[in-house]
Amino acid sequence: VSPTDPFGDELVEQLKGIKGIMTQEKYTSIKSAENHVESLMYGFMASSVLFVGEELGVFDIFAKSCSVTLQEAAMLTNISENQIERLMIAACSIGLIQRHDQHTFSMPENMKPLFLKNGSHYYGTNFKHYSSQTAPLFQFLPEALKEGKNQWHRLASKEEDNATPFADVYSSEEKTQVFLDSMWGLGYQCSKELVEQFDMFRFSKLIDLGGASGSFLIAAAEKYTNLSGSVFDLQVVEPHFERKRKEHDLVDRLSFCAGDLFQDSFPEADLYSLGYILSDWSTEKGNQILQKIYDHLPTGGAVIILEKLFNDKKDGPVNTAMMNLVMLLEMEGQHHTTNEYFQRLDGVGFSDMKCYRSNGEKHMIVGFKP
Ligand SMILES: C[S@@+](CC[C@H](N)C(=O)[O-])C[C@H]1O[C@@H](n2cnc3c(N)ncnc32)[C@H](O)[C@@H]1O
Repeated sequence: VSPTDPFGDELVEQLKGIKGIMTQEKYTSIKSAENHVESLMYGFMASSVLFVGEELGVFDIFAKSCSVTLQEAAMLTNISENQIERLMIAACSIGLIQRHDQHTFSMPENMKPLFLKNGSHYYGTNFKHYSSQTAPLFQFLPEALKEGKNQWHRLASKEEDNATPFADVYSSEEKTQVFLDSMWGLGYQCSKELVEQFDMFRFSKLIDLGGASGSFLIAAAEKYTNLSGSVFDLQVVEPHFERKRKEHDLVDRLSFCAGDLFQDSFPEADLYSLGYILSDWSTEKGNQILQKIYDHLPTGGAVIILEKLFNDKKDGPVNTAMMNLVMLLEMEGQHHTTNEYFQRLDGVGFSDMKCYRSNGEKHMIVGFKP
């Protein structure tokens, strides 16, 4: 249609006005949105393939082998060839393994360290808490949003009703191990990176409040040989920290102090750390902890906050945004931007705030007592 042709123009206008007629451009853009929504819809299935493949030991077999046949996978998992093939095809489709021919599969080399049990990059310890606890809790997201409160009690057994979220987390030896393994798995590598960036030689004693099995304290003590310190956490955590302390050969410099963040006084130190603690608790309770730290610190002492961070615009990244929902479902707190943490620290009296970033999801905010 020529733009100079008045009949042509009229025709174009008429076509634009007719409901249901779309330009090719608009069609392509809606189709791409549809593909995006479709992949989100399938997202939970992909997570299940990851969790189940790990639980059945399939990925561990792949991580140790050049290639794996259907027959071998079936034998090692005690699952029929037909059914294990379904799982393996699904794992191929999401890039965890690759298929070579009708019978043979392998895992890409860069994926293997993540699935190699007992290897230093093993990622599987992180899955169990998400698969057994977090994923089932997501069915109660509407309730959590409407009530503005956590929902973990819906999956807890009767006796644990009315208890705190951590009473449930630590309600059995198995749950305790799963939770603390995942805390270690999510913390140690990032901590090693972060202690490289913030110079701790000027400090002599680090108390890791709610430090669990010690991922941050141990990383710090390994780097700074002048540093001594303690994990301050609930009594139930002690044997788990004890094991890590021995494994890392730090029995002489590190210790465990049993205590309650809200009830007990903190051991004296010139450096305190809070890893994934402020995101567990309401702003009011978190500020109580920050104030208590400030009161215990000498001048020049510092607090370290280790957390996932929102970007400044607060529309991502996706992991922080999703874990912000998890904080609602499982705990009492939420995630923040760097500036929001700076403001909280400023409100308590801390100064010279700085943010250090790891390549992972846990970053470090430091504030000093002037
Ligand atoms: C989300 S985990 C974080 C663990 C570790 N700091 C990290 O970054 O991986 C929270 C920790 O706070 C501890 N905790 C919970 N309530 C506590 C309380 N009232 N007093 C002391 N520690 C507590 C838990 O035992 C757990 O180790």
